[in-house]
Amino acid sequence: MSLPDQVRTNQDLESIVDTTDEWIRSRTGIRERRIASEDESTYTLALEASKQALETAKLSPEDVEMIIVATLTPDFGFPAVSNLLQDALDASDAAAVDINSACTGFLSGLALADGLIVSGHLDNVLLVGAETMSRVVDWSDRATCVLFGDAAGAAVLQKSDSGGGILKSVLGSDGSGAMSLYLRGGGSRYQANAHTIANGDHFLKMDGREVYRFAVKAMVDCTIDTARRAGVPLDEFDLFIPHQANIRIINSAIRELDVPESKFFVNVDRYGNTSAASIPVALCEAIDEGRIEPGSKVMMVAFGAGLAWAGTALEWTAPVPDRGVVGAGLSARERLGVLPS
Ligand code: UT7
Repeated sequence: MSLPDQVRTNQDLESIVDTTDEWIRSRTGIRERRIASEDESTYTLALEASKQALETAKLSPEDVEMIIVATLTPDFGFPAVSNLLQDALDASDAAAVDINSACTGFLSGLALADGLIVSGHLDNVLLVGAETMSRVVDWSDRATCVLFGDAAGAAVLQKSDSGGGILKSVLGSDGSGAMSLYLRGGGSRYQANAHTIANGDHFLKMDGREVYRFAVKAMVDCTIDTARRAGVPLDEFDLFIPHQANIRIINSAIRELDVPESKFFVNVDRYGNTSAASIPVALCEAIDEGRIEPGSKVMMVAFGAGLAWAGTALEWTAPVPDRGVVGAGLSARERLGVLPS
């Protein structure tokens, strides 16, 4: 995983918009978030996380057959972030694909990668969830700017005959709610011009209450559905990794599902909502904290723009990676050299 060094606390936000630490903590559970510096972007965060993932998996970049990057904040309209990664990693045999399914992006990528591996097309896939949400939030809109943060997480997926692995992926969409969370400008319908800029169309917009209502139901329904389709009773899961958007949404799912709170992984207090990076960063921290071991059954569930939901039931079969030696960061060339001005 990769996080910008810069921490923006709720107290920092009090001097930017009309808000309070108390409001943010009580309504969302967020205390602070990470914000990319000028020489960081979705690409640099994704690159650092990818290098760690390859090093941890002891996989050489030449053996990566596909790079999938889940992001709604790519560096450019095109080319894809995955193309930039492919070059920077010297992954000469890798195809490169970005997917934009917002906060469900990492789990969507997991489902696609799993399908390609299980069907025999690929053996090794690098999957990344990376975002710089700070570049698309309106820093004068207190209703949204307090919620999001920047981060990246990456995983190597490999063919295995040992059983377990991804037991079931469930993806769903309700596009009738598409305009409850969206970024209007800069696409083919509202191309960037002086009017769209003046209108703030390049910023994320959200109907928070609408998304909240959807999220609470989606988290619970998707968890139950994924467990049922995986054939694993809910109480047999050792760890639940929910999308980290709001502690109230997570707590409501805990109550409805009647699962012990201790089985839910939470880090929204430190990073806010990092969209497609939320689940892989949480997964990485869960591993670092020793909460996953061979044989652990893990349920990951996400919801977000689309509106969309995704669930993955996983049985961890690989040795638990020791990330102690990784994380040297990027060289100056990698940070700055590839970012065109
Ligand atoms: O990955 C998916 C992404 N999205 C989400 O998960 C978001 C889901 N929604 C939520 O998490 C919650 O709806 C929010 C945290 C966004 C908002 O919480 P809420 O309890 O639904 O608040 P609200 O929107 O109903 O607003 C309550 C009040 C309003 O004032 P009035 O109209 O009651 O006077 C807002 O103007 O709180 C006000 N408010 C704030 N006050 C201080 C909104 N944002 C802030 C703020 N600081 N940052």
